[in-house]
Amino acid sequence: MDLTFEPALADEEEAVASLWRECGLTVPYNDPAADFRFALGREASDVLVAREGGRQTGRIVATAMVGHDGHRGWLYYVAVAPALQGKGIGAQIVAAGEEWLKARGVVKVQLLVRETNTSVVAFYEKLGFEIAPRVVMSKWLDGRE
Ligand SMILES: CC(C)(COP(=O)(O)OP(=O)(O)OC[C@H]1O[C@@H](n2cnc3c(N)ncnc32)[C@H](O)[C@@H]1OP(=O)(O)O)[C@@H](O)C(=O)NCCC(=O)NCCS
Repeated sequence: MDLTFEPALADEEEAVASLWRECGLTVPYNDPAADFRFALGREASDVLVAREGGRQTGRIVATAMVGHDGHRGWLYYVAVAPALQGKGIGAQIVAAGEEWLKARGVVKVQLLVRETNTSVVAFYEKLGFEIAPRVVMSKWLDGRE
């Protein structure tokens, strides 16, 4: 399949969010459209998409949100349209995310796998990732508990 990899356009919020929903990546505590707007086209983050064919006309078939925090790089919302999974597109969108990070001087990329989705660990291991034995701690800064 002929794919192009580039940042999403601002008006593709709904197309991207619906792919994330279709891939089971949305959760009640995150608004995918807000996540898209917050990351898109920033100095330290972006939402990359794979399209069939050319820019603006091609259907979005995969996504990866990328970003760095001044130290490590992160991948979020790695998703391939269900009908097109298993054809190497996931590996390609992750590679596009890695290139985005490398171009900004980031030397290590990390990602979080939800405990309900551990079958995807084998996918990342194929791509050279390894499990890092760490405890992730988090806290909402907007008053939520
Ligand atoms: C995970 C996901 C992005 C993988 O994309 P994909 O296009 O199906 O993966 P690819 O075809 O590029 O696979 C790359 C390699 O990983 C392997 N692989 C893919 N999914 C796998 C799985 N669930 N278990 C084991 N191996 C897997 C492939 O066999 C392939 O190996 P090969 O190079 O030896 O042939 C896709 O299945 C998806 O969107 N899943 C739902 C959303 C999700 O869970 N995202 C991850 C959030 S952390």
